[in-house]
Amino acid sequence: MKTKAVLFDAYGTLFDVNSAAEKCKEKIGSNWELFANYWRTTQLEYTWLRSLMKRHKNFWDITEDSLDKSMKLFNINKNMKNELLSLYKILSPYPEVRGVLEDLKKKNFKLAILSNGTPDLLNELVENNKLNNLFDDLFSIEEVKIYKPDPSVYELPVKKYKIKSGEITFLSANTWDVSGGGNFGYNSIWVNRNNSVFDILDFQPKNEIKSLTHLLDKV
Ligand code: LAC
Repeated sequence: MKTKAVLFDAYGTLFDVNSAAEKCKEKIGSNWELFANYWRTTQLEYTWLRSLMKRHKNFWDITEDSLDKSMKLFNINKNMKNELLSLYKILSPYPEVRGVLEDLKKKNFKLAILSNGTPDLLNELVENNKLNNLFDDLFSIEEVKIYKPDPSVYELPVKKYKIKSGEITFLSANTWDVSGGGNFGYNSIWVNRNNSVFDILDFQPKNEIKSLTHLLDKV
């Protein structure tokens, strides 16, 4: 099916989730990357657990809760909390992001983000990084108040654009999100930035790319 819209996951796909901790690595110490990975994993676990428990909390509050737990575990001084949270609001995009979005825009695809992030967080992220004029929409799970990979999340752009799920090409670096979108019917492409291994969750992406640069050959 011909692609009409190209959708991107935000965290880990367009924006480097480890960049907040990396900017404080002198203060955190040599295990800053372990800490960053633990924070991210806990944050995602909380999204899944809260969806299963039907106790929704927005992504910003979950980011703070998971940071609290991670800081305790890694014995990080409490007065670093505000700095880490502020840096999370202005995460850096991966270097190729702007160029790829500009090229896709010239090809007239609908371009959008589909993310767990709140509308405010997503707006701030794209505005801070001056990417706001490149996206047609920033879809947030707050519209359905359940986290990825619930199918109702992947349905949001299908409803808004009145297109078929197979007309959407979806990019995510998160394997489980690629599977979520793929099982819903998207043409999901895995952005395998870290030479990792794919999941066994009923969907195998037809395409796997190392960075978004290679997307232009696939749509
Ligand atoms: C997001 C997370 C899954 O942006 O990375 O939705």
